[in-house]
Amino acid sequence: MTTMIVNGVKRELQAPTDTPLLYVLRNELELSGPQFGCGLAQCGACSVLLNGKEVRSCITPLSAANGKEVTTLEGLQARWAQQKGLTGEAAAKTLHPVQAAWIEEQTPLCGFCQNGMMIKATELLESVPSPSVTQIKDAFTKGVSPHLCRCGSYTAIIQAVQRASTSMTKGSAA
Ligand code: FES
Ligand code: FES
Repeated sequence: MTTMIVNGVKRELQAPTDTPLLYVLRNELELSGPQFGCGLAQCGACSVLLNGKEVRSCITPLSAANGKEVTTLEGLQARWAQQKGLTGEAAAKTLHPVQAAWIEEQTPLCGFCQNGMMIKATELLESVPSPSVTQIKDAFTKGVSPHLCRCGSYTAIIQAVQRASTSMTKGSAA
């Protein structure tokens, strides 16, 4: 059995431990944020945070998440609330600054890649609160593979990361 904390909730899973984490999240836990793009760690659409670090859940075996915290797109709002000590109504109505920035910048086109983009942005801003454009580009293009957007929303993504950075360093969603 695999035990992990998914979006703040303890989950005990019986799936074979070599099952890709993505399949467990989507098929067993019905979390539709992480997308199946390439299945080969080549696009980033399936990204989640594993103990705060972005991983490609399509190639991450369930065993790698045992005893760890998984945050999906669905968990970003609660993650921000916990980090800022928000509770009750304030927690319920406050989006994660990355979510708010993505809406304000109208970043998605078809939207398929955007789960991975928002997860990557969250990871980046938690470690580098005010990244330069070069640091943003590096974050999205270096690592296991670049995050790919077939619709070409890259400029909007950079703008959204900058907006989220401004909100986060001010301490609240925009
Ligand atoms: S689906 Fe995992 S990186 Fe493309
Ligand atoms: S918005 Fe369509 S693939 Fe990125």
